[in-house]
Amino acid sequence: MAKNLVLGIESSCDETSVAVVEDGYRVLSNEVATQIELHNRYGGVVPEVASRQHLESLPILIPSALKQAQVAYDDLSGIAVTASPGLIGALLIGLSAAKGLALSLKIPFVAIHHIEAHLYAARLNDEPVLFPAIGLVVSGGHTELYHIEDWGVYRLLASTRDDAAGEAYDKVAKMMGLGYPGGPLIEKLAQKHQGAPGHFSLSRMKDHSQDFSFSGLKTAASLEFKKNPPKDEAELAHFAAKFQNTVIEEIILRVRKAMFEARPKSLLVGGGVACNQAVRDALKKEANDFKAVLRVPPPKFCSDNAAMIAGLGAHQLASGKMAPLSATANPTGSFY
Ligand code: KG4
Ligand code: ZN
Repeated sequence: MAKNLVLGIESSCDETSVAVVEDGYRVLSNEVATQIELHNRYGGVVPEVASRQHLESLPILIPSALKQAQVAYDDLSGIAVTASPGLIGALLIGLSAAKGLALSLKIPFVAIHHIEAHLYAARLNDEPVLFPAIGLVVSGGHTELYHIEDWGVYRLLASTRDDAAGEAYDKVAKMMGLGYPGGPLIEKLAQKHQGAPGHFSLSRMKDHSQDFSFSGLKTAASLEFKKNPPKDEAELAHFAAKFQNTVIEEIILRVRKAMFEARPKSLLVGGGVACNQAVRDALKKEANDFKAVLRVPPPKFCSDNAAMIAGLGAHQLASGKMAPLSATANPTGSFY
């Protein structure tokens, strides 16, 4: 029987990535070209610069991912590409490359939602997921909680009212003068703090909504930083640990309620913030308390990558889903 080999393309923001995945979960290659250095000098992602860089990187990464996977163009059974959400220009570069490949190789292509793929990343190089599951995506642009009946059957339980968790890390790190991306920098500092970190007060929604909110924390952290600027490395580490601890409290509070109500078999976690060891440890405890299996992929599949796109794409293609050549990119859009 012919192998099911799908090539995935991810270009929604500031990472260009191309991967080859076999049978929807076995990752044969996952090439990533990050643009962080390029955007750093502007203090944030510049959409036009991102698009141009994707255009330069894709013709290098596509053959390189195939070579790494020891797969020829003719061996491919399908192409999967991120079509939503993201920067419109950046998405269109990946989508056009995917259409070109699909057309010339006479194979189908499928348009993938980036957030659904962050959830699917839990399946990569691992056993099938046990459903029902609770799914948490914590990234630079999204903080969302889902009830998942099966792949393709989702119910949104909560999302952020303001900033995403990663965005809060990035903004507070900038305010602290640490650089971008803020998550890994704050995590490294926080690890230097010994003892109880304490926490900032969490903002409660007046309507008792279960939605996340991180902008109050960002403001509280900024005010404290200005009022009592850390005097040395130890105080700076304590400040980072206190901020991180509050982010974790905010996440865990919502996850616990969802776990309590749904009693799922699995807890799936994805997105860049899931690279954070303290976040992973706190979620592990939560899954254990509810006798659920924690499915959080290794860091390389938590941050933006094309393996998750190819994996979900293979799953969708196998169930008969495919996109027409007229498919277009959508900078917002949902998948549930
Ligand atoms: O999923 P991702 O790679 O891109 C988006 O789709 O947004 O997530 C990037 C976000 C950034 O905000 C970054 O600061 C955060 O993930 N992040 C972390 C860590 N590594 C990356 N946040 C906390 N701790 C980390 N170790
Ligand atoms: Zn992402």
